[in-house]
Amino acid sequence: MSDDLKKIERELHEAVAASADLRALEAVRVDYLGRKGAITGLLKQIGTLPAEERRDFGARVNVLKQAAADAIESRKAELEAGETAARMTAEAVDVTLPGRRPTIGRKHIVTQTLDEIIEILEGMGFAVEYGPELETEYYNYDALNFPPNHPARDMQDTFWIDDGRHEAGEYLLRTHTSPVQIRVMERMQPPVRVIMPGKCFRNESVNVRSHVMHHQVEGLCVDEGVTFGDLKGTLYTFLKTWLGMDVELRFRPSYFPFTEPSAEVDVSCILCRGSGCRVCKQTGWLELGGSGMVDPNVFGSVGYDAEKYTGYAWGFGIERLTMMKYGIEDIRLFFQNDMRFLEQF
Ligand code: DAH
Repeated sequence: MSDDLKKIERELHEAVAASADLRALEAVRVDYLGRKGAITGLLKQIGTLPAEERRDFGARVNVLKQAAADAIESRKAELEAGETAARMTAEAVDVTLPGRRPTIGRKHIVTQTLDEIIEILEGMGFAVEYGPELETEYYNYDALNFPPNHPARDMQDTFWIDDGRHEAGEYLLRTHTSPVQIRVMERMQPPVRVIMPGKCFRNESVNVRSHVMHHQVEGLCVDEGVTFGDLKGTLYTFLKTWLGMDVELRFRPSYFPFTEPSAEVDVSCILCRGSGCRVCKQTGWLELGGSGMVDPNVFGSVGYDAEKYTGYAWGFGIERLTMMKYGIEDIRLFFQNDMRFLEQF
């Protein structure tokens, strides 16, 4: 009997020590102290023993029972501490790591350029006006003194709107921002000093230099005594502010139906400062767009007195200005939304 107790005690301690987790330990407790457990069995035997053995045996079984309960309890505490430690290691947060920055969006480079240009020209006294992208043939062409048979009206260049609800040839996507000049002059009397930024659309093949959509910024100044010298002074001030004091401008005679005289405006290449490089194709000059003195026929369209007022106007491509400033060689990059391109600005 006494050997039995020793054996049970030894096996119990081994089983408790071998319990790798709380579930295994609970199984050990059931084996020894549960309703059908080994120690419970011994307790049940007490009553069957002769009176002289009962007391001594009972005392020893109770000591064993207490020892078993203590061993299980202390192993339980040990296992619980271990599990907490393991969880803490697994879920540990290293508060000394640098924080993760959320990706923050930014304005598209074309919008950035527009914002800069608007800020400079507003500072020079120009107000900003906007017009519709869906235009009529009247504003896009007729009122701007395009002759009825002008090749620019050709299907090649213009996206005509043919929705079945309007007369064919009535609506189009504006091909330039110049129609906003007409809309502004219809609404206001001189003096007028406005810039008109916005999207333009052309039915052209998409390649390195041209796209079906681009942005322009149009300028218009009308007052008594406005001269070509004012146009030059304004564009010089604007471009020197935006590109740097050492830029040179060049006005080349040209033709637009809505200006007379007309001039194409070139700026000295900002990359090579005129000595010739791949961006300016070795010419030293970059073309910005058109300009000129408002044609008296345009004043006729809006009811201005062409004897009293003169005005100048210009229209520059925003993508072109941006390409020139940053040495970007392909206009398609602006609209592909490749983050590697956009993130550079
Ligand atoms: N609207 C012309 C174009 O898109 C550019 C232009 C030329 C605008 C001369 C003007 C101007 O205001 O005076 O090609």
